[in-house]
Amino acid sequence: MSAGYRFDPADLDYLTSGAGQDALCAAADRPLTEGSMLADLTALRALCGPRAAAIVETVRLRRRAVPKLGEIAAGWLFTDEALQQATPGPVARHRAQRLAGIGVHDLTCSIGADLVALLPHCDPAIGSDLDPVRVRMAAHNLVASGLPARLLVADALTTVSRGLLPYADPARRESGGRRITSVETLPSVADLDRVHASRPPVLRLPPGIDYESLGRAGEVEVVSLDGGAREAVLWPAELATVARRATVLSSTGAGFELTSADPEELSSGPAPADVVGDWIVDPDAAVVRAHLVRHYAARHGLTQLDPHLAYLSGPRPPDGVRGFRVLDSAPYSVRTVSGWIRRDGTGTVEIKQRGTSVIPDELRKRLRPAMTKDTTLAHTLVVARIGDRPWAFWCRTP
Ligand SMILES: C[S@@+](CC[C@H](N)C(=O)[O-])C[C@H]1O[C@@H](n2cnc3c(N)ncnc32)[C@H](O)[C@@H]1O
Repeated sequence: MSAGYRFDPADLDYLTSGAGQDALCAAADRPLTEGSMLADLTALRALCGPRAAAIVETVRLRRRAVPKLGEIAAGWLFTDEALQQATPGPVARHRAQRLAGIGVHDLTCSIGADLVALLPHCDPAIGSDLDPVRVRMAAHNLVASGLPARLLVADALTTVSRGLLPYADPARRESGGRRITSVETLPSVADLDRVHASRPPVLRLPPGIDYESLGRAGEVEVVSLDGGAREAVLWPAELATVARRATVLSSTGAGFELTSADPEELSSGPAPADVVGDWIVDPDAAVVRAHLVRHYAARHGLTQLDPHLAYLSGPRPPDGVRGFRVLDSAPYSVRTVSGWIRRDGTGTVEIKQRGTSVIPDELRKRLRPAMTKDTTLAHTLVVARIGDRPWAFWCRTP
């Protein structure tokens, strides 16, 4: 995660002053691209001296923030890292609706992206964070959004409010890999649960967390937005309605939920023997991370290619889902795949793999000599471990 410009309290005084607002408007009219930056900074230094860097950073962050958080964030303040960490607007609003009617304390509110979504639904909703610069930014952002700012600088590992449901979105440690555990968040899940034992918090964690190893009572909800897994939310028993939930959100408003009271309830069906003519379906990341692939398959009449893999197959993909029509399949070898490429006059290949040692970028280089130049004809190669060997599925790219 890049650190970006370090804002200090004097920057915030300036950014929230009348002169700062004028400088932000002037900067918003400039391109602020790599090519224009020298001229932009020279012009802005003439207007606001040493604060020009803070002005430029704020305008650039606002431009990045709007697609993630919505138009509401067009006048907000951020640090680069805080913007990267902020919950995307549709995801924050989904959670806020689930918390409607409950008083909530956001223990790690940062610049307030979650709080802004909580405030219209939760009474009261208050926020705190260890970082005083972020708390001041959150205060600006809430007021700029027409919302009350009840904020304080506080350690999430202290109790500074009473009667409110704690919510925490702890920071991720830099060293964390894809599968992380409680010790790799700041503060850790174990510490948050210990300090707030009288009312266990709602926890927003990275989607790759090994949530089963945390052994927490309640519900695990994995949320995706536009196909990318965004978070695993651990709901305490007080608010759990199922054991596991996959929530698939999209910026266009379409989406679905898949739930299970018992994620182990479905046994795996037999692997399909011959899928040529069928479709391969790669379920949404939330379904995969919530370990509800079998539930998704049962709902849509699909079968797993292998009981240990998330790839599914069936006579047609679910409505609105991108599937891959299987033209051929065989045990995987570069020679076989090159043969398919030559036979079909393929110009580009999308490579997807699960459970094998295939590295798509390296394989693409090895397949290049077989490809036809000057054609846009594309195919998709799915390589999957079936049983104990890699198997190749040659598909029409949708
Ligand atoms: C992932 S960010 C939260 C983002 C926020 N939910 C949003 O959508 O904007 C994590 C925050 O935890 C804060 N933090 C880290 N340790 C903390 C602690 N012990 N007490 C309070 N806040 C802490 C960091 O300063 C950071 O702002």
